[in-house]
Amino acid sequence: MAKLLITGGSGFIGTNFIRYWKRAHPNDALTNLDLLTYAGSEAAGTNGAKSAARFVKGDICHAPTVQRLMRGTDAVIHFAAETHVDRSILDSQVFLKTNVLGTHTLLEAARKANVKKFIFISTDEVYGSIDKGSFTEFSSLRPNSPYAASKAAADLLCRSYWVTHRFPVIVTRASNNYGPYQFPEKVIPLFITNLLQGKKVPLYGKGDNKREWIHAEDHARAIEKVLDKGEPGEIYNVGSGYELSNRELAGMILKLLGKGEDFIEPVQDRPGHDFRYALDSSKLKNLGWAPQKNFSQGLAETVEWYRSNESWWKKIKGKNTYKTYIRKQYAGRSK
Ligand code: NAD
Ligand code: DAU
Repeated sequence: MAKLLITGGSGFIGTNFIRYWKRAHPNDALTNLDLLTYAGSEAAGTNGAKSAARFVKGDICHAPTVQRLMRGTDAVIHFAAETHVDRSILDSQVFLKTNVLGTHTLLEAARKANVKKFIFISTDEVYGSIDKGSFTEFSSLRPNSPYAASKAAADLLCRSYWVTHRFPVIVTRASNNYGPYQFPEKVIPLFITNLLQGKKVPLYGKGDNKREWIHAEDHARAIEKVLDKGEPGEIYNVGSGYELSNRELAGMILKLLGKGEDFIEPVQDRPGHDFRYALDSSKLKNLGWAPQKNFSQGLAETVEWYRSNESWWKKIKGKNTYKTYIRKQYAGRSK
């Protein structure tokens, strides 16, 4: 039996990871450390995963909590972060605190507690944008949003703990994830829930920007593979190879929900909007991992999940959405 400390297990990818792990490794002891920010949901962290993870409400920046939880831990899977690019454009301070200082607090405590493996969940956004071809783990880091820069800082901090302290950190850099329990501020759940509410979908700019989509469960399997076979100090890209433009994505979601193109509302583009992300994931594939979910099927299942779980998203949508957040920020400034 292994003892795993998971941070951010009440968020989108973390809860999918816990649910997967519970099925695949029922005897492992999991602890989920999560602050339950606007993006964390008690339901996501515990429902169905109740017996899989002991829940601790706490901040990854709080050293005493983190030090206490590290004792006896075999491996850390570090998901907790501020994750929405648009929010980081408006107010980036909490991104630096959580993503950089929080990661540092965890690394320091884990090193002192002799944790055997520390997996840092980084992102493809650390590479910046690429017009053609794909990024390998050797590509240079050119983050373009404050969110991506904070993740790049934490990613490089992880590298330094391996090089300097020989602390066994492994970094994964995944592409855009989709699936159940994603907060309805990110494009797929925002578009689905808007359409379920009879609203239009806000498409940034021309809608030509491209993303590579991977199901959160395939991401969970990738982390499992890295935990088992990954080499300390190494970085692994995690992508499906399936890319499409935001306009194509909107078209697929509209079709699944029986709506026409008139439900697309072109809106002002995101400042510094990365045009395209694409990963070369052959290093991870060489460890024996391959994505299993077909995108069309996974997207249809995701639409059905949001249709059947209105009680989950209706509680959080509107209360903490980006629009409410902007309104609050600007209300403060104009006075
Ligand atoms: P999310 O925003 O859905 O969830 C983040 C979780 O972290 C929430 O439960 C939140 O309560 C928790 N959290 C935030 N600050 C905390 C703090 N200070 N202490 C403890 N917990 C805190 O995020 P997600 O989409 O599930 O992403 C998880 C990780 O994967 C992040 O590190 C993100 O950068 C990375 N990632 C995400 C994607 C994606 O497409 N969503 C792709 C690649 C990598
Ligand atoms: O690539 C991995 C990253 O994917 C993660 O590191 C981030 O945490 C995650 O949020 C995601 O970042 P993106 O910026 O790619 O995701 P988002 O869902 O915000 O936007 C996806 C694309 O859709 C992007 O090109 C912007 C566009 N978009 C987004 C929103 C919210 C729209 O056109 N309209 C919208 O309303």
